Amino acid sequence: MITSDEPAELGRELHKRYTAADLSVLTSEEASRFVPDGVGDPQADVTLAWELLYRLEPELYDRLISSEHLHPQLIDWLPRSVDRIVEVGAGTGRLTMELLDRGREVLAIEPAAGLRRILTSKLARSDLRHRARVSPGFFDDLPVPDDFADLVVACSAFTPAAGHGGEDGLAEMERVCRPGGRVAIIWPKDVDWLLHRDYQYRSFAGQMSMEFGSLGEAIELAGIFYPRAVDEVRRRGSRRVPYQLLGVNPPRDVAFKVMPG
Ligand SMILES: C[S@@+](CC[C@H](N)C(=O)[O-])C[C@H]1O[C@@H](n2cnc3c(N)ncnc32)[C@H](O)[C@@H]1O
Repeated sequence: MITSDEPAELGRELHKRYTAADLSVLTSEEASRFVPDGVGDPQADVTLAWELLYRLEPELYDRLISSEHLHPQLIDWLPRSVDRIVEVGAGTGRLTMELLDRGREVLAIEPAAGLRRILTSKLARSDLRHRARVSPGFFDDLPVPDDFADLVVACSAFTPAAGHGGEDGLAEMERVCRPGGRVAIIWPKDVDWLLHRDYQYRSFAGQMSMEFGSLGEAIELAGIFYPRAVDEVRRRGSRRVPYQLLGVNPPRDVAFKVMPG
């Protein structure tokens, strides 16, 4: 059953949303990482389409991740009462907001200006806002001294690709983590790549669903981000959509390393 809150028409799918002309939104630092040889096609390269989404429609990205909650046991697994936390690729703060009562100082690093703006306004509404700082920066060049943090974390942001972390990015995360501290890659894209670099792995069990605000929101956002699932989302008629149906690994796992003392 479809309720009256279903949108009149579906938005354009992510992989058709932007063109090469939109790459002009990237700063030179961003372009050197995301389109290193100067050419790219966001209709052929979905990673590039996501980068354009963050810059051209950051509110749309925030709507999507507001439906995508991290597994509660994964959040419980994070250390409590530490001095300093660095989060890289913080986005609009899905994880950052959870870190505020765990670290006395939380540095959220995020390259995309539009995402930083949304994160900054969310933080401004928190009672713990005095603990947080937001900074531009990239995995491979963190604006942070050596051995700075007890926890260095990235959520749904780090990948083995050079522009999105890679060897240099992992080395940077480890550089800014103090001996005995933890580097954590939450919802990792390539677990084996991290296991080969002495990371451990944990996954938390249980059925997980995306929890959209309404059925209409579920249909609209599935139409953009999971177009192959949209008919099934409609047929089920629920604002809750199991990750399995979307063909996505749920946000329930972490690869981590305790830095040697
Ligand atoms: C899928 S979003 C995740 C955002 C947020 N951590 C969350 O869980 O909602 C990926 C994030 O990685 C950031 N990112 C991409 N490449 C990056 C890089 N080279 N250095 C730092 N952050 C990067 C993007 O700007 C974006 O905020």
